[in-house]
Amino acid sequence: MASKHLHKAKKNKNDEFYTQLSDIEKELKHYKHHFKDKVVYCNCDDPRVSSFFHYFSYNFERLGLKKLISSCYQNQNMDLFSQHNVEQAIYLEYEGDKNGNRVPDVEEIGLNYFNGDGDFRSKESIELLKQSDIVVTNPPFSLFAEYFNQLIEHKKQFLIIGSLNAMKHSEVYPYFQSNQIWFGATMFNGGATYFIGSPDLYDPEKMSNPKNAYIEDGKLFWRVNGVRWFTNLEHNKRHEELILYAKYNPEDYPKYDNYDAIEVSKVVKIPKDYSGVMGVPISFLDKYNPNQFEIIGLSMKAGFGLQSHKFYDSYKEIRQNGTFTGSSGKKTNGNPMLVGKPKKGNYYIDEFGNCAHAKYDRLFIVNKSLQ
Ligand SMILES: C[S@@+](CC[C@H](N)C(=O)[O-])C[C@H]1O[C@@H](n2cnc3c(N)ncnc32)[C@H](O)[C@@H]1O
Repeated sequence: MASKHLHKAKKNKNDEFYTQLSDIEKELKHYKHHFKDKVVYCNCDDPRVSSFFHYFSYNFERLGLKKLISSCYQNQNMDLFSQHNVEQAIYLEYEGDKNGNRVPDVEEIGLNYFNGDGDFRSKESIELLKQSDIVVTNPPFSLFAEYFNQLIEHKKQFLIIGSLNAMKHSEVYPYFQSNQIWFGATMFNGGATYFIGSPDLYDPEKMSNPKNAYIEDGKLFWRVNGVRWFTNLEHNKRHEELILYAKYNPEDYPKYDNYDAIEVSKVVKIPKDYSGVMGVPISFLDKYNPNQFEIIGLSMKAGFGLQSHKFYDSYKEIRQNGTFTGSSGKKTNGNPMLVGKPKKGNYYIDEFGNCAHAKYDRLFIVNKSLQ
C-alpha cells in the first residue's frame, strides 16, 4: 500500500507544486477591469493553501467580484500540501466581506463537501464551472490539454498557468493561430519561476542543478523553466508593437529545405523588410501583437497551417564524427530543416551526400504591414 502511494506521488509529482502569491499578483495587475461583478472559479485549488484563493479573497472588494469559488481535489486534510489520501473533497464559496474588516474571515467563507473527489472533470465541479465567469489557476501540468479543452468547451474566460510547450499541443495551438487565446502579460522571470512543494518531492535526479531546487522553512522551492500564462482575457501588453531593427539578406536568413519560409533564429532578428513567411522560435508568442503579425502555421510532424513539402525517408541520421546512429530520416519529417551540416549535433545525409539538419519547432509568421 505504502509503495502504491509512493508510486502515485512520484508519477504526479509535477502536479503538486504551488504558485507563489508574488507571481499571481504580478500577472493579475493587468486584468483588474475584467473582474467586476464576475464569479471566479479556482478549480484546482485547495483554498487553505492556494495563493489564488488568497489573492482573490483579499482583493475581492478591490476587484468588485461577485463570488469566489475554490475547490480542492481529493483531500480534506489541513496539511500544507495535498496528499490525495481522502476520496472526498471540499469547495469554498466566498461572497465578500460582511463585517467590514476587509478580510475574509472563516465565518464568512462557506464550506461545502463534494460527494466525489473534486476532480475538475467531475459533474459536481463542472456544475460550479457553469456558474462561473472566469477560471484562474495553475492546473495539473500533466492534464493541461484536457483541462484547457474543458474551458473551451464551456466557453469560459480564463487565465491559467501552463508550460510553454503546451502551446504546441494539437488541441491548443489552433486557438493561438486564430487569436482566440494568447500568452499573459508577464512571463514570470524570463519564463522561469519557483513553484513550492513538499520537501518529500525533492528529487536530485530531476533537479540536477542545485540552483534549481532548495528547501527553506520546510518547503521545497523548485525552479521550472518555460512557464507561461495562457489566457483569453484581453490585456494591453499584447498590443505593444515589437520594434524591428534587422534587415533581410539571404545569407543570414536561409530558406528552409522543406518549408516555404526563411529561418529567423531569434525573435530579435526578425527582419523589418521581409514580406514573406518567416519561421521564428515559439517564444515569439511573448511578443506577438496580432495587429503587427499574422501567425500562419506551426512546424510539426502533423503540420499546422504551412505544410512541409519535403520528406527525409531516404536520409540517415549521422553524428558529427561521421558514424550513423541507426535512425532513418523519417524521424525528422515535419521539423524545419536547413540544408548543410550544423556546427553541433546530429544531422541527416542521403546516398548522394546531401546533408540537412533540423531546427527547433518554429511558428510561421508574416509581417502584416508588408502585405
Ligand atoms: C500545479 S498544482 C497547483 C496548485 C494550485 N492551483 C496553485 O497554483 O498553487 C495542481 C493542483 O491540481 C490538483 N489536481 C491534480 N489533479 C487534479 C484533478 N484531476 N482535478 C482537480 N485538481 C487536480 C493537484 O492536487 C494540485 O493541487
